[in-house]
Amino acid sequence: MLKQKAARAALDLITPKLTTSSIVGVGTGSTTNYFIDALAEIKHVFDAAVSSSEASADRLRGHGIHVLDLNATARVDVYVDGADEVNSARQLIKGGGAALTREKIVASAADEFICIVDESKVVDTLGAYPLPVEVIPMARSLVARGLVGLGGQPVWREGVVTDNGNWILDVHEFMVADPLAMEAAINNLAGVVCNGLFAVDAADTVLVAGAGGVNPLA
Ligand code: 5RP
Repeated sequence: MLKQKAARAALDLITPKLTTSSIVGVGTGSTTNYFIDALAEIKHVFDAAVSSSEASADRLRGHGIHVLDLNATARVDVYVDGADEVNSARQLIKGGGAALTREKIVASAADEFICIVDESKVVDTLGAYPLPVEVIPMARSLVARGLVGLGGQPVWREGVVTDNGNWILDVHEFMVADPLAMEAAINNLAGVVCNGLFAVDAADTVLVAGAGGVNPLA
């Protein structure tokens, strides 16, 4: 399983750097779930985890890993998470699991961001995967009109409520030529909480699992 191999490679990469005072940031999704399960093997090596979702926090606690609120720690040493798309600049689309806001917060707090993906996630241009945008519920239509103005086709992910009590719009037909500029433009729409472009907080390392093994994105 490629996702599992990427997760294992991340564990191998971070283990030598961890100390008993280290705080490990943990993302959300099926690839990250493999990482959480692997992390349990070395839970005595680091101090605690900070989680990007209630689901990951539950899984971490299920393994007996101490989960800290981000407000309770001055730093996060390393953050490990999956992605929906990755480009050659290590910029990402995230949020397929609706956890993008907390993911971006923990990624931003971390000294190092390691992204783990299988090779199907690597693209030339971000945007074939519909871009998730977390919105304040009362602003859903307003933000949707703003996203149309930016060139996209937003679709409400009906029935999904984020851990923060908000809603998700998925923006289709939205190839992103300039991720840094588009991340900022979407953030400027009133009612947007966060968008799934991780350009400011691009990954430091992307571990890509494929038929030839797991390799860092060049
Ligand atoms: C959740 C995310 C996930 O990292 C992304 O959706 C990838 O998920 P998976 O590892 O299940 O393919 O951003 O909000």
